Amino acid sequence: MLAHAHPRIDRAIAALCRDSDEPVCAYLYDLQALRNHAAQMRQCLPEGCELFYAAKANAEGPLLQTLAPWFDGFEAASGGELQWLHRQQPGRPLLFGGPGKLDSELALAASLPECAIHVESLGELARLSRIAGRAGRQTPVFLRMNIALEGIGTTRLMMGNAPSPFGMDEQDLPQAIAQLRQSPSLRLQGFHFHLMSHQHDVELQLTLVRAYLERVLSWRSTYQLDITVLNAGGGFGVNYADPAASFDWPRFCAGLRQLRHDDIRLRFEPGRYVSASCGYYVMEVLDIKRSHGAYFAIARGGTHHFRTPAAQGHDHPFFVRRGQKRPLIEGQRVTLVGQLCTPKDVLARAQPIAALAPGDHLVFPLAGAYAWNISHQQFLMHPPPRMIFLPEVDEVQDFPARWSEHAEGAMP
Ligand SMILES: Cc1ncc(COP(=O)(O)O)c(C=O)c1O
Repeated sequence: MLAHAHPRIDRAIAALCRDSDEPVCAYLYDLQALRNHAAQMRQCLPEGCELFYAAKANAEGPLLQTLAPWFDGFEAASGGELQWLHRQQPGRPLLFGGPGKLDSELALAASLPECAIHVESLGELARLSRIAGRAGRQTPVFLRMNIALEGIGTTRLMMGNAPSPFGMDEQDLPQAIAQLRQSPSLRLQGFHFHLMSHQHDVELQLTLVRAYLERVLSWRSTYQLDITVLNAGGGFGVNYADPAASFDWPRFCAGLRQLRHDDIRLRFEPGRYVSASCGYYVMEVLDIKRSHGAYFAIARGGTHHFRTPAAQGHDHPFFVRRGQKRPLIEGQRVTLVGQLCTPKDVLARAQPIAALAPGDHLVFPLAGAYAWNISHQQFLMHPPPRMIFLPEVDEVQDFPARWSEHAEGAMP
């Protein structure tokens, strides 16, 4: 995974400095890197498997556009995302999941010919069967199952294999199937599972997929089901401290080749692993101070733009891009903070830094997923960061003509 200061990023920051007198605060998205990563993910994937992108990770239009040729479709987790994806990627297959769907959202999903719905509970299924009757088509449905499995380990973010608001218990399945049989406007297309995110262990992930497959094959024969797809979710982990130790997608795909799943398509819907590495959050150092013996670098922006370090509870990796000024400090441990008046606005604690001066830039890689879109952007009414989408084809020198900023398809 890409996590170093790429020359394109360096040149882009230099161009941002030339473009404005204001200290830099921006997200840079490297669409070329995203394209290459997506292409590689696709190329590894065996026949009979599908890739959907979980847009909750980052639904910016230029990212969706870049991913579109390599992905079979997109997954939405709210009516808002569904509408956005439908507008951004008209006609592309969509999946609509998540708990607490409104009737109006179910009606929207049922009305979109390219959309399948992941049903999370018996109550939701009952509402959907009433609503889908009005849509004038047979709506494809997946039952999201929260099954109990042994020997699959745990991660930091568990959505199932334990009590949770997501998916149905296996003992609800007979009732769900009976309900589906009485609902001519619904068609059971398959089953959906997403038991955990932040998975780093390829063998455990393969064990999971194998267990899903076994369960689905047994349900298929027990209930005489005509189903064709198993959605095994997302959750492939990114190792922020050591990006090279992130989930080993090629090895996972090699393992998938050993699975026999003749007439069932295996579908995956990753988010973080797809888009994390194409994004960089850049902050310009405004002030460096010493407080009770500890150094702080205060930089433009903060966790209201980039909540990932707070959400992960980690020190986010970063690089210093030195400017022209003589260093104010050398060989010190420095805590990197933003402009918010809360001690929680910390991006990395007590980090060893060779040299630093105001005007230098702190570059946080791995900021392309669950970053800007999970941040509390309104707090303190600071302006938003600039959003720069570096094109898939070089060059970035001719800023701003070839860049898109708040481009068509950038999120409002
Ligand atoms: C149902 C579902 N699918 C896919 C994802 C994407 O997970 P990740 O970004 O960890 O790949 C999530 C994340 O919460 C999810 O809840």
